[in-house]
Amino acid sequence: MIDPQALERLPKVELHCHVEGTMRAATLVELAAKNGLHLPVADPVELYEYDSLDGFLQIFWLVQSAIADRADWARVAYESVVDAAPHGLVYRETFFTPARHLAAGQDLADIVAGLDEGLAAAEAETGIRVNLVLDFDRDFGPGAALEQADRLVELKRSSSPGVERVIGVGYDSTEIGREPATFVDAFAVARHAGLRRTAHQGENSGPDAIAACVDVLGAQRIDHGISILEDPDLTARFADERIPFTVCPNSNIRIANAYPSLADHVFPAMREAGLLATLNTDDPALTDLDLGYEYRSVAEAFGYGWDDMVAIALDGVEACWLDEVDKAALRQRVRAVAVPA
Ligand code: ADE
Ligand code: ZN
Repeated sequence: MIDPQALERLPKVELHCHVEGTMRAATLVELAAKNGLHLPVADPVELYEYDSLDGFLQIFWLVQSAIADRADWARVAYESVVDAAPHGLVYRETFFTPARHLAAGQDLADIVAGLDEGLAAAEAETGIRVNLVLDFDRDFGPGAALEQADRLVELKRSSSPGVERVIGVGYDSTEIGREPATFVDAFAVARHAGLRRTAHQGENSGPDAIAACVDVLGAQRIDHGISILEDPDLTARFADERIPFTVCPNSNIRIANAYPSLADHVFPAMREAGLLATLNTDDPALTDLDLGYEYRSVAEAFGYGWDDMVAIALDGVEACWLDEVDKAALRQRVRAVAVPA
């Protein structure tokens, strides 16, 4: 049996967490009132039961709509980090998905500046470090994604406030009827600008779509990717290439309804196949999760011991986009707790 407090303290890297999906229910209620957004219930938690990824997205989009200005972004970003601090988070690469806000007239420069402001305040308070990944929303289509990529590169060139924190791009939202290859232009713009690339895929689609993310879009990580095991050759190849998978087991139960229970999840099979499968929460506030629970529940469901959990934490470091010096420092922090002096 692992000591739950030791597991909570284990330093953790998180690579798959949406800032909008960390919004506290109380914050949602306040922002909705401030910004004139109608919520269909007094307590939003009543909405947090999902029958499918697309069912979840209806609620995610509502939550997103509550963020109306730079101060709102700052608040949500700040709270996202402060709330994760008690669960051992030391470094996070956080998604934000601005398509809906841009369509409503917000400016990407303001969104990034607001996120940066909130993250900087939280970093100063907690010592946690955070970078950002701009996710294109597949529901808005390839044209909107390309516009966002172009605008992000423009902000990078003009050193817009906070934009140094945006180290990569990805895409998320619905997988139904969305071909990865149609987003090639947006990903190419990002690649040419030296940005990292990741892609939500295989949460609700097969291994061919996962392969296209790497081979056509140039994705360097896959978010979810749980259908990969359906293709043994692709699995062997990606294991060999050390392509990271940012897996969110509890999300896959609660959002995608992909498995009846955690014990049925493919996370251990992915790791046994040699894949670099990391552990993450996805949308913790919308699924009643936190990173400590994610580690505890996975340890319990799969009979993992302390060394297994330390190996998972170290794989989070390997899969992140920091440079080798910073990764070595993070590994050191994990090992210091893993094997106390
Ligand atoms: N946006 C927020 N969470 C998501 C998920 N699990 N899949 C796709 N898009 C998302
Ligand atoms: Zn996600």
